[in-house]
Amino acid sequence: MCGIVGFTGKDNALPILLKGLYSLEYRGYDSAGIAAFTKDGLTVVKSRGRIANLEDKIHAEGGITACCGIGHTRWATHGEPSDRNSHPHLGGKGKVAVVHNGIIENYLELRSQLEKHGYVFQSETDTETVAHLVDYLHTGKHEELAMTVLKAIGMLRGSYALGVVSMDDTSEIVAARRDNPLVIGLGDGENMIASDITAIISRTRKYIILDDGEVAIVRPDSVTVMNSFGDIVEKQPQEVNWDLSAAEKGGYEHFMIKEIMEQPQAVSNTIHPRIKDGKVVFEDEGLTDERLANAHHIHIIGCGSALHAGMVGRSIIEKLSRVRCTAWVASEFRYENPIIEPDDLCIVISQSGETADTLAAMRQAKQAGAYTAAIVNVVSSTIAREADGVLYLWAGPEIAVATTKAYSAQLGALYLFAVKLASVRGTITAAQEKTYCDALYAVPKQIEKMLETKGQMQYLATRYANRSSVFYLGRTLDYAAAMEASLKLKEVSYVHSEAYAAGELKHGTISLIEHGTLVVALATQPELYEKTISNIREVASRGAEVILIAGDGFEGDTSCCNYVLHLPKIPPELSASLSIVPLQLLAYYIAVERSCDVDKPRNLAKSVTVE
Ligand code: F6R
Repeated sequence: MCGIVGFTGKDNALPILLKGLYSLEYRGYDSAGIAAFTKDGLTVVKSRGRIANLEDKIHAEGGITACCGIGHTRWATHGEPSDRNSHPHLGGKGKVAVVHNGIIENYLELRSQLEKHGYVFQSETDTETVAHLVDYLHTGKHEELAMTVLKAIGMLRGSYALGVVSMDDTSEIVAARRDNPLVIGLGDGENMIASDITAIISRTRKYIILDDGEVAIVRPDSVTVMNSFGDIVEKQPQEVNWDLSAAEKGGYEHFMIKEIMEQPQAVSNTIHPRIKDGKVVFEDEGLTDERLANAHHIHIIGCGSALHAGMVGRSIIEKLSRVRCTAWVASEFRYENPIIEPDDLCIVISQSGETADTLAAMRQAKQAGAYTAAIVNVVSSTIAREADGVLYLWAGPEIAVATTKAYSAQLGALYLFAVKLASVRGTITAAQEKTYCDALYAVPKQIEKMLETKGQMQYLATRYANRSSVFYLGRTLDYAAAMEASLKLKEVSYVHSEAYAAGELKHGTISLIEHGTLVVALATQPELYEKTISNIREVASRGAEVILIAGDGFEGDTSCCNYVLHLPKIPPELSASLSIVPLQLLAYYIAVERSCDVDKPRNLAKSVTVE
């Protein structure tokens, strides 16, 4: 989703802004732009497409030399991706420039009022309204830009992270936020604003997070933050706790394969510190034994892969603890008017911690009186800060749009939770808890083993990359894992794929199976081996080619399958952590075979901060 970067200091802002924009590329975008104070005034260059296009355009126009500027990557919401709709947008006669992430809901209303005051709009965006509004409120008044921005945001409905500059002070950037992330990087004689830390880390590791309703005045040697009343707020600086190398490819061709290969470490970071003497130990997560003992109904909320991890978690939680558990699509939870009781526990899953629907669903659950515990990767993200308790994944920065290591770490976190809950509720014995903990502790090593299937998956990719449709089948836990495997394939390779509960296919969808259709079946739950193999036979006898991921000890007749991969020995409840690995690799290599933009698939954004 849109990315914002801003720099003010002594060095030339252009390479710093461009570097910042490149590091925000992973969020997903379709155009980019920069506004900076040059000797000619407020210079704006914008371009549809990749940042490289913007760079070429800047150089073709003679370059930019400036010590202060703002930049933006746009993921279109209002109006097609085009130079005209790209940010920054200018207000009035070009004295003010604005970059924005989010959606201004009342922009049409404001636009028509501003038009009555003679403002002429150049774009279809909601953001241009903010630029003209700031200009309208600022012109002729001798007040600080920040005070004008404070007034302007009081008139906006919706969500925003904003970076605003004005010709009045060519070394100042004003930033504001509501429901969209914005960090301020604190340097030595220079400061930055950005949508996330990846855009500032090459200049500074020190940052503060702007909270909802706050406005910041960012100058080369000072940062002042005000609340919505205009009062100064003291903010506690934080330090980035990971290295720049974690956000670089480190010799891999794509971030996606790098992050797939990083899974043993990521999962170990989530699991290992929380297992002690054969028990799951929660310390700062806010998940006390008392809370777990009294949880009446557990609601798991997430979007996309986070939801898929939640579906696996739901199945294990009910199986081990017999506590009622529901997995919710966050965007549906918001409008379903779900029944939430005060003793309910909401587990909110989000890698970024900024997903708009997940955040809104969490706030709703909280308001209804539920206790909210977030499983989050990005430290100090909005969801992490607003949840009652947080279980951090500590998986390190994830840059590829398609999640891999964060998904695996989310599974790890949910396994920990399921075992802990069952132990507190007395539905598993201490000996069983130890068995699960030992098995969980070994998962990172077993993922390492699964990564050895890389060559085989690469070979299968060459064989199947040309298929136009792929079906993923599984029952119970394997169905949830199939959902994730299918999403991985479709999002990075653009091959149509669907996940089906294996027993459901024959109720209509089997009509799509024809000669050469690829079916990937998962059968890792021993009590369901026979059932699933019957479903595999149904598709194979209609011409499908079948890849089977089978649990250890699977002894069914696999003669109808074209390729069979057996998982190593693992309690069946934990199999999803292993079965997904070869399927991530398969999706990756199929995407590579098809020459897709693996790390930045079309139309997708890493952090979905609009509804
Ligand atoms: C798919 C993917 C998405 C995210 C979803 C939620 O590979 O990455 O489906 O899982 O957008 O994002 P977070 O976890 O940041 O809330």
